[in-house]
Amino acid sequence: MRPEDVPGELESVLFSEAQVLERVQQLADEIAHDFSAEPPLFIGVLTGSVMLVADLVRGLPFHSEIDWIGLSSYGSGTESSGEIRIAQPLHREVTGRDVIVVEDIVDTGLTLSWLIQHLLDLGARSVRVCALLRKPDAAQVVVSVDYLGFDIPNAFVVGYGLDFNQRYRNLRDIAVLDPKMYT
Ligand code: PRP
Repeated sequence: MRPEDVPGELESVLFSEAQVLERVQQLADEIAHDFSAEPPLFIGVLTGSVMLVADLVRGLPFHSEIDWIGLSSYGSGTESSGEIRIAQPLHREVTGRDVIVVEDIVDTGLTLSWLIQHLLDLGARSVRVCALLRKPDAAQVVVSVDYLGFDIPNAFVVGYGLDFNQRYRNLRDIAVLDPKMYT
C-alpha cells in the first residue's frame, strides 16, 4: 500500500520506502560487522517488527535464526503502564545465546526494558536492541538501542509495520497519521 491509496489520511511522509530500506541495510551491515564470529538469535516483537525483521535478515550475509514474542502492556487508556504480559511465547532456546531484539519503535521504552530483563533472566549471554524508530521525547525509561534507524518527533506514525487500530501496517512508507483520523 502506498500513500496515494489512502488519500487525505496521512499528514506527511516521514521516510520513503527507499529511505527506510537504505537505513535498514546500513543496520544489517553494522550487525554483520559485529557478529561475524557467531550469528545472533533475532527476536522480533510482534506485530510491528515483522517488516523490519524480514528486511534486516535478508540484508545479512549469514544464516539468521528468528523467533518471535508477543507482548501486551496494560495501562489506562492509551497510557502504557510498564506492566507487561507475554501474549505469545518464544519457541527457541535463548540460554547462552547472543540475542538481538528487533522492534519497530521505542516509545516510552517500557516494553523493551522489560523484555531485555526477561531475556537476561532466561539466561541469554547478551541482549542487544535493533529498533527502526525511537521517540526521545516520549522516553520514560532509558533503554540503550545498539542499532537505531531514526530518532523521530513525538507524532503518531504508521506504516512499515506500525499500525493505527491494525490499519496502515502494510503501508510501504513511514508516515505521520493525520490527527483527524483519531480525534
Ligand atoms: C508497540 C511497538 C513496541 C511498543 C513500544 O507495540 O511495537 O512493541 O509499542 O512502546 P513502549 O516503548 O511505550 O513500550 P504495540 O503494543 O503497539 O503492538 P503492535 O506491535 O502489535 O502494534
